[in-house]
Amino acid sequence: MTAELSPIDNAKFVAAKRAADFVENGMKVGLGTGSTAAWLVRRLGERVRDEGLKIKGVPTSTRTAELAREVGIEVITLDEARWLDLTIDGADEFDGDLNLIKGGGGALLQEKIVATASDRMIVIADIGKQVETLGAFPLPVEVIRFGWQVTQTLIGEALVSLDVLGHDSALRMNGDTPFVTDEGNYILDLQLHRIGHARQLAMVLNQIAGVVENGLFIDICDTAIVGFGDGRVELRDINEGTIERDRLDVQENDNLFTDLTD
Ligand code: 5RP
Repeated sequence: MTAELSPIDNAKFVAAKRAADFVENGMKVGLGTGSTAAWLVRRLGERVRDEGLKIKGVPTSTRTAELAREVGIEVITLDEARWLDLTIDGADEFDGDLNLIKGGGGALLQEKIVATASDRMIVIADIGKQVETLGAFPLPVEVIRFGWQVTQTLIGEALVSLDVLGHDSALRMNGDTPFVTDEGNYILDLQLHRIGHARQLAMVLNQIAGVVENGLFIDICDTAIVGFGDGRVELRDINEGTIERDRLDVQENDNLFTDLTD
């Protein structure tokens, strides 16, 4: 099977493929959710099969758990793992300090719990996710279903005194019915356009009754692997202050990645 990847898919793919090199024998690894993370899981499955790589994976969603099992990765729960060596996950936006917006795929709660229970989090993303200031992507906030409209009003009131450009939010839908997360909650997508003080916003949101968690990942990630449409990848480490550049070729047998629908 050969199929041409679009430049964005190619960028996601090379970022995921390069990130898979960071996974070593014996590691307990947090497996992110989304199309970029799905490529990572497929690549790790390939390494398990071809190299006999021995890892235990903690998935951040039922979707990722299904895929990980399908490709032959041993899946364990976070409670079984207790602590992880590494989590690799995608993002909807990242800034120069590697603060992130996540949750476009609706898995932000498990993603944040898993990432914060890890020695290291590597974000994998195509270059289009890079922003000067977070906020163009609507910020997902996971809320309890009970009284969600009251929670939405309280969020709107809190936003008025915060450094953001917009105050509107929308209940995420799945067709005609509200989208329900793996934890049985709803998601409100906040149209903020620009987030001036992400740390303050994250703290204020989490103090509102009914809010379970928000999609801002502040100081959680210290390495980014950024993919470009032409196969280039950049490894950015904000602790070391280094940027390493590389280029990967998408080979024909890599096209097993193209049949992902996530
Ligand atoms: C899921 C996420 C994803 O990492 C984020 O939405 C990026 O997805 P993709 O890799 O498909 O662009 O946060 O909750």
